[in-house]
Amino acid sequence: MTLRLTGVRVLVPDGPGAAVAAELMREAGAEPVVVGFDAVPPAGHPGPPPGPDVAVGLVHVPAGTADGPAEAACAWAAARGCPVDDRRGRARADRGDGGGGVGRVTLVGGGPGDPGLMTVAGARAVAEADVVLTDHLGPVDLAAEAAARGAEVVDVAKIPYGRQVAQERINEIMVERARAGLRVVRLKGGDPFVFGRGFEEVRACEAAGVPVTVVPGVTSATAAPALAGLSLTHRGLNHDLTVVSGHVPPGHPRSLVDWGAVAAMRGTTVLIMAVRNARAIAAELVDRGMDAATPAVVVENASTEGERVTESTLARLGDDMDAAGVWSPAVIVVGAAAGERAVPADARSGGLSRPGR
Ligand SMILES: C[S@@+](CC[C@H](N)C(=O)[O-])C[C@H]1O[C@@H](n2cnc3c(N)ncnc32)[C@H](O)[C@@H]1O
Repeated sequence: MTLRLTGVRVLVPDGPGAAVAAELMREAGAEPVVVGFDAVPPAGHPGPPPGPDVAVGLVHVPAGTADGPAEAACAWAAARGCPVDDRRGRARADRGDGGGGVGRVTLVGGGPGDPGLMTVAGARAVAEADVVLTDHLGPVDLAAEAAARGAEVVDVAKIPYGRQVAQERINEIMVERARAGLRVVRLKGGDPFVFGRGFEEVRACEAAGVPVTVVPGVTSATAAPALAGLSLTHRGLNHDLTVVSGHVPPGHPRSLVDWGAVAAMRGTTVLIMAVRNARAIAAELVDRGMDAATPAVVVENASTEGERVTESTLARLGDDMDAAGVWSPAVIVVGAAAGERAVPADARSGGLSRPGR
């Protein structure tokens, strides 16, 4: 059921989920009023249950609200004949103590890191989730907020060259939680279907009979260059854009990349997961005919406090990256378009949600 909230004043009992719930209410056109409630009055309490003297059309109790304030708000609503949208009760029913049924999984593309670069649909899914499975990339602050309002947050980060949680285990956790009737969000960096193994997760849900949807995200392959002031295409300069994974070096038995074809392209190539193999990739591209003077720009930690840009060329890329101490996550933009940075550094990323920006 979808509630029409335009113009409705909605009372939200204060608690860990109140701020996000109020934000979503406002987005839906409602007028949220967040009110602190104490516990339910004891039996025999004279008169109506205590609470604010305001006229509201709905009481919304977010999942994660503590029982005391939630019950007090419900009692206050009942005494006034006011309808209640009890998400806490719904989450409970979903969990099996009063209801049941299979939950669902939503794969959410979280963008490159700044929560401001997440889609509205993605942020809403995270705000409504009972369980969030999160990575080290993407808007990790949102996962922390979900934890603060009482959602279960599972860190399944697959840190490059570090701790790894097997994909199969991630699939199992998602399916297991959804089968328990919970709303599960798999929060991923960038876009789930761009080198994100999102499709494997969709398939795992389908195989388990768990409903699954995908909320696309802003991929770092385009966001990082844009934040660095680089246009990936430029009229009159290039008509092609190639995104390549460099997680294995050229010549590696597991490599699926045709480096000769990449070198033959005249436009822009964006390398992701290529920090460790950048020197070998640059050498391969030059060996295969690309001009050694081709501009190559590295963008690290785009949209986060650690964002940094290193300008180079294919000939110097390995040395320049070593000298700068570049580390993952970074994308490397190769091509003539990388030779032109249109936006001054201090104007970049203006309007994003990072403090001080
Ligand atoms: C496993 S891939 C995931 C890509 C992701 N699905 C996407 O669409 O952006 C991880 C790689 O994405 C790139 N990446 C992700 N976030 C980044 C960021 N904030 N800044 C620069 N590169 C980033 C890096 O190349 C990193 O090694």
